[in-house]
Amino acid sequence: MNEEYDVIVLGTGLTECILSGIMSVKGKKVLHMDRNSYYGAESASITPLEDLYKRFNIPGSPPDSMGKSRDWNVDLIPKFLMANGQLVRMLLITQVTRYLEFKVVEGSYVYKGGKIYKVPSTETEAMTSLLMGLFEKRRFRKFLLFISNFDVNDPKTMDGVDPNKTSMKAIFQKFSLSQDVIDFTGHSLALYRTDDYLEQPCIDTINRIKLYSESLAKYGKSPYLYPLYGLGELPQGFARLSAIYGGTYMLKKPIEEIVVENGKVVGVKSEGEIARCKQLICDPSYLIERTSKVGQVIRVICILNHTISNTSDNNSCQIIIPQNQVNRKHDIYVCMISSAHNVAAQGKYTAIISTTVETNDPENEIKPALDLLKPIEQKFVSITDQYEPTDMGTDSQIFISRSYDATTHFETTCDDIKDIYRRMTGSDFDFAEMERRKQDIFGDAAE
Ligand SMILES: *[C@@H]1O[C@H](CO)[C@@H](O)[C@H](O)[C@H]1NC(C)=O
Ligand SMILES: *[C@@H]1O[C@H](CO)[C@@H](O)[C@H](O)[C@H]1NC(C)=O
Ligand SMILES: *[C@@H]1O[C@H](CO)[C@@H](O)[C@H](O)[C@H]1NC(C)=O
Ligand SMILES: *[C@@H]1O[C@H](CO)[C@@H](O)[C@H](O)[C@H]1NC(C)=O
Repeated sequence: MNEEYDVIVLGTGLTECILSGIMSVKGKKVLHMDRNSYYGAESASITPLEDLYKRFNIPGSPPDSMGKSRDWNVDLIPKFLMANGQLVRMLLITQVTRYLEFKVVEGSYVYKGGKIYKVPSTETEAMTSLLMGLFEKRRFRKFLLFISNFDVNDPKTMDGVDPNKTSMKAIFQKFSLSQDVIDFTGHSLALYRTDDYLEQPCIDTINRIKLYSESLAKYGKSPYLYPLYGLGELPQGFARLSAIYGGTYMLKKPIEEIVVENGKVVGVKSEGEIARCKQLICDPSYLIERTSKVGQVIRVICILNHTISNTSDNNSCQIIIPQNQVNRKHDIYVCMISSAHNVAAQGKYTAIISTTVETNDPENEIKPALDLLKPIEQKFVSITDQYEPTDMGTDSQIFISRSYDATTHFETTCDDIKDIYRRMTGSDFDFAEMERRKQDIFGDAAE
């Protein structure tokens, strides 16, 4: 192991695997290690089902009614991909799509007044939705038209709105939208977790609603995609990319020490040997002392033998419970998937609830979601601490990822990846540039 690398990466979570893939493609010499014997770290998919029972200390083995243990791939971090979002762009640019197969998620729902409704996001859907009264529908339709026509390069489309100054609250007022419509627009179309966005300049929200609509337009049923065999396929896809470009992968490697000299990382000690490096990327678990705890997320994996009521028998879906509807500060999310995506036995469904913890009794906080899923055959509850780096790597050249948050899409994960990339290289991760140069960079090499 007495070799010198440009970059050593610790932990095979999705963030780390994407970064090691990108760095390898850029010609860096990369060594990637994980203390576990499987890929994915915190973002792994667990298979067979027995391993999930063991991991959560559920006594005994799965009952026969759970079907074949090997048919299960259960994500520890539930997330969907936005069809037009940043992760799909990264997958396409790097051509990692060739290792994976995706299927659209059947439906997207929102909770209002104790009931669930399909999220209307097109004008036609909005006109027939039971979520709004007739006059409200007309106003919402005008609002959606305004958003879809909004072009920052064309003041005529802005109708006096300054994208950098006008608050989103003012835009909602401009269209006289009611609190319920504001709730589902902000939380189930723009996918905000809290209401802080209301006071911010409107451009971010406008772009998020556009992302939702454009993603929805791709496949029609929902804006979300999910890979066959589970999210664990994603880090493995990027690990294969890295390997094609000369990256070295080692699993089950105990990490004894991250060696720092004069405030700068110089290597990693594993099994008595030191591999040297110029830069280090790792997840918070490898360097907890250079992070701070910023909160907690509760995730509850629920195995069901039925689809969720009032979702038209959809075999995959998302339900968002906006915080205002249940007197909270953060939304509650439910992601449901099944054998349709090869992640559960026939006739079984995996619904995963997640939210940011606000009290000392997190399980009670998610009760509105649990009630939607009843009856539940088996529950697996986890409460995890969230960390973010305190050392941003300027001097140490150590780049630590953020813990996965409670959102059920990958946009925040991609923001973290772009942020680390910028800090490591001093330049922005430029999608357009990568897309233009795709042929030069990848050419035939990925064959
Ligand atoms: C489901 O639909 C039924 C019939 O329309 C309704 O009575 C019930 O309140 C709905 N429940 C939820 C959670 O949406
Ligand atoms: C808004 O800010 C962006 C980035 O700072 C700038 O490029 C753009 O010209 C601004 N737009 C307006 C209308 O002021
Ligand atoms: C999913 O739900 C939508 C309506 O919400 C319905 O049109 C569609 O048929 C459902 N899909 C399946 C496979 O049940
Ligand atoms: C579904 O699961 C519930 C909860 O474990 C159980 O009571 C019920 O009998 C099951 N139904 C079928 C058809 O297996």
